[in-house]
Amino acid sequence: MNDIIILGIESSCDDTSAAIIKNHTILSNIAASQKIHIEYGGVVPELASRAHQQNIIPVVQKSLSVANIQQKDISAIGFTRGPGLLGSLLVGTSFAKSLAMSLDVPLIEVNHLQAHILAHFIDDANPKSPEFPFLCLTVSGGHTMIVLVKDYFEMEIIGKTSDDAAGEAFDKIGKIFDLDYPAGPIVDKLAKLGDKTKFKFNKPHLENYDYSFSGIKTSVLYFIQKQEKENPDFVKENLNDLCASVQKAIVEILMDKLEKAAKDLNINEIAIAGGVSANSGLREAMKLNEDKLGWKTYIPKFEYTTDNAAMIAMVAKLKFERGEFTDIKAVATSRYEI
Ligand code: KG4
Ligand code: ZN
Repeated sequence: MNDIIILGIESSCDDTSAAIIKNHTILSNIAASQKIHIEYGGVVPELASRAHQQNIIPVVQKSLSVANIQQKDISAIGFTRGPGLLGSLLVGTSFAKSLAMSLDVPLIEVNHLQAHILAHFIDDANPKSPEFPFLCLTVSGGHTMIVLVKDYFEMEIIGKTSDDAAGEAFDKIGKIFDLDYPAGPIVDKLAKLGDKTKFKFNKPHLENYDYSFSGIKTSVLYFIQKQEKENPDFVKENLNDLCASVQKAIVEILMDKLEKAAKDLNINEIAIAGGVSANSGLREAMKLNEDKLGWKTYIPKFEYTTDNAAMIAMVAKLKFERGEFTDIKAVATSRYEI
């Protein structure tokens, strides 16, 4: 049987990434993340799109050279069609379409959120892949949801955030602490040095499996404003404890609903995916539930958690095997249901 070699392209937000998968194995996974947004404290869509245009050719070339693959060996091109920032998605989509046309190979669209979840099936993502049906807490800068994964392409969102995403909560609260964007990884790092029991923040009480993170953001903001009236250096003097306490609260909010869903649906195959799944507090809470609740947990390797093209190449490979190809007239879409 001929090898299946797929180039995956990801450009939905602020990371330009390209990867090569050969059969089940990722040969390269290259990303250029855009530092420009740090100055603005968040992703500026117009700048993101311009940076993708600058990065895409060198990133794709590097993915080929690291994988030691020639353009002529490529069987198909997978690309993120959505959801994401339209201007960013357009760059990857147009590039993928042009290259597929010039190489005369099939084009395969990929849903970014499905890709975060299906990253678990990359052969070196986990010691073992999850078994269907499993629950996947998908937590990123733009999304927070519990997905019931019945099969590769049969997914049902059973709970989601009604306002901010978990990553957004980390980033916005980090901004209150004057941390750079994206603050999530910085909060995580500082939390390791702090006392997580020092400060308590209100947690939302929502029905079913839905989330809300705007309340905790506001409660942190008011708390800090009040403390700073008495001590202007309050944040500086308590930064590690603040980060640890905030991380504890966000992780508890995430885990409470996930535990409820797992119990109600009687599922013990539990995965996490998306940028926030890199969080050490969340990873630890998942692992603890292996003993406490008998869960089998699936936590992807770090490089497959934040936005990356390996997950896009993986999904494109699954679709290639099913003969699911995309018309060259396909357009990028900012909204895309899973
Ligand atoms: O999946 P992702 O790379 O991009 C989106 O599709 O949004 O997720 C990025 C989000 C950001 O909000 C970032 O702060 C958060 O993931 N993040 C983290 C950590 N690493 C990334 N949040 C908490 N702890 C981390 N270690
Ligand atoms: Zn993402």
